[in-house]
Amino acid sequence: VLDGVGKYYSGKVRTYGASPQGVDWNGPEGQELRFSQLMTVANEATSFTLAELGCGYGALVDHLVANGRATAYHGVDVSPDMVAAAQARHADVRWAEFEVADRFAAPSDFCVASGIFNVRLDAGEAQWLDHIHAVIDLMNDAGTRGFAFNALTSYSDAEKMRGDLYYANPLDLFDRCKRLYSRDVALLHDYGLWEFTIVVRKR
Ligand SMILES: C[S@@+](CC[C@H](N)C(=O)[O-])C[C@H]1O[C@@H](n2cnc3c(N)ncnc32)[C@H](O)[C@@H]1O
Repeated sequence: VLDGVGKYYSGKVRTYGASPQGVDWNGPEGQELRFSQLMTVANEATSFTLAELGCGYGALVDHLVANGRATAYHGVDVSPDMVAAAQARHADVRWAEFEVADRFAAPSDFCVASGIFNVRLDAGEAQWLDHIHAVIDLMNDAGTRGFAFNALTSYSDAEKMRGDLYYANPLDLFDRCKRLYSRDVALLHDYGLWEFTIVVRKR
């Protein structure tokens, strides 16, 4: 399923460049708001390493700088065009590295992902949900102290839903994370977008 996803996002960044539209977001405000929600996973940490699955052109690195949270960062993305854009944009940032991949060779303290479960293209509902479960499993291994991800919500207005996007049930994913990964799980579904963020912290 990731083959098509990589090609889809490569097309976006080739058309719109290293910009929110280039990673298929409506604009910078939503992109930034998503990062703020995800990074609450590391709220109590003073020093940490960070992995990002689906890093796009590396906008999270800008967010970390702007918020005084620069730290050893490893971003991966299945789209070679995205990774090339990220490397070009952050060539002078010595603590950030980018790689074409869909997994991590070694764990970090925290692992985050923004927007990687939304575009399912022509994958079936069941196939995409299996994919989400496998990726969350991978994120659990990649973040020894915790991980966080977002997804479009099944509580969206029916008439606004699109057939090529996946709307996840937040309660099912909350339940799964609670049962499989940690007792400390937060479901954030109050930040004004048609989506939610799940934050899993391990003590
Ligand atoms: C919506 S974009 C968001 C990019 C970035 N996280 C941001 O918010 O600016 C999602 C990105 O994740 C990548 N992606 C999707 N699923 C992935 C996976 N399982 N592993 C690695 N990259 C993935 C896509 O190629 C795309 O660049």
